[in-house]
Amino acid sequence: MRIHFEKISYIYDRNLPFAHTALSDIELDIREGKITAIIGETGSGKSTLVQHLNALLIPSSGQIELGDHLIKANEKNKNLKKLRKEVGLVFQFPEYQLFESTILDDVAFGPIRFGISKEESYERARSALSNVGISPILYDRNPMELSGGQKRRVAIAGILALDPKILVLDEPAAGLDPEGAKRLVDLIVSLNREFNKTIILVSHDNDMVYSYTDDTVFMRDGRVIYHGPTLDLFNDGELIKKNHLLLPTVVNFKNRLREAGFEVDENARTIEQIAEAVSRRISR
Ligand SMILES: Nc1ncnc2c1ncn2[C@@H]1O[C@H](COP(=O)(O)OP(=O)(O)O)[C@@H](O)[C@H]1O
Ligand SMILES: [Mg+2]
Repeated sequence: MRIHFEKISYIYDRNLPFAHTALSDIELDIREGKITAIIGETGSGKSTLVQHLNALLIPSSGQIELGDHLIKANEKNKNLKKLRKEVGLVFQFPEYQLFESTILDDVAFGPIRFGISKEESYERARSALSNVGISPILYDRNPMELSGGQKRRVAIAGILALDPKILVLDEPAAGLDPEGAKRLVDLIVSLNREFNKTIILVSHDNDMVYSYTDDTVFMRDGRVIYHGPTLDLFNDGELIKKNHLLLPTVVNFKNRLREAGFEVDENARTIEQIAEAVSRRISR
């Protein structure tokens, strides 16, 4: 499914004196089947951008192609329901949207609302919960009884039950402990690799972005200042310096190893990969 932004601008409170331009002239083609990170300081426009992906926000100018859908400024856009089934958006702190009395009901609610039969909706809910690693023992519990990480998983299952082609997550790991955050990242990666979902992920965590994403969109003041392979972004010393981008731990580690005379694979992304290369070298 093609994702193509053409000259998108977005202005909040457009006709009011406090109108505020949150996005300017965004041109983007997001690759299908990949994991794309969206990074940038708070207020740079990340959340505004991703809300365009399922037409929660309609551009003030420009247009967005999303598969068969064309979302245009100043036009009545049709078929949004179908679009929202194809592009699932998991908000920041999605647990605030859990409101049914049991976990299973909560996840089944999405497909039911989209007109899928009750029976199939519950089947999808069970399968989605299993895919996010929530045990059947928990199905009848109240969502509020879960840990922070589990609540996020249930919220993601609620979107997965719609079987979207594209999954958009706005800071999914915010506020989770490191272990919960790591498990969530593993889940997101498996949704991409095993279930072929195109993933678009807003994140503040450059370590995670470096280790697990294919491409990165780097935003600043409502504009895209970099879009391309994640590894290339963090190799671009000039861009990093100019924009005070925080280097991932792995990149610092690679640089230190190089200074110490080790050969380090350009493409190594995780501490594990580097540790392996180092131990191979030492045992030689
Ligand atoms: N509902 C809103 N009304 C007015 N301005 C908003 C609203 N939401 C966000 N903004 C402004 O738009 C800009 C981009 O915000 P946002 O997309 O939330 O950035 P990010 O997700 O990168 O932190 C910021 O200047 C923010 O203050
Ligand atoms: Mg945001």
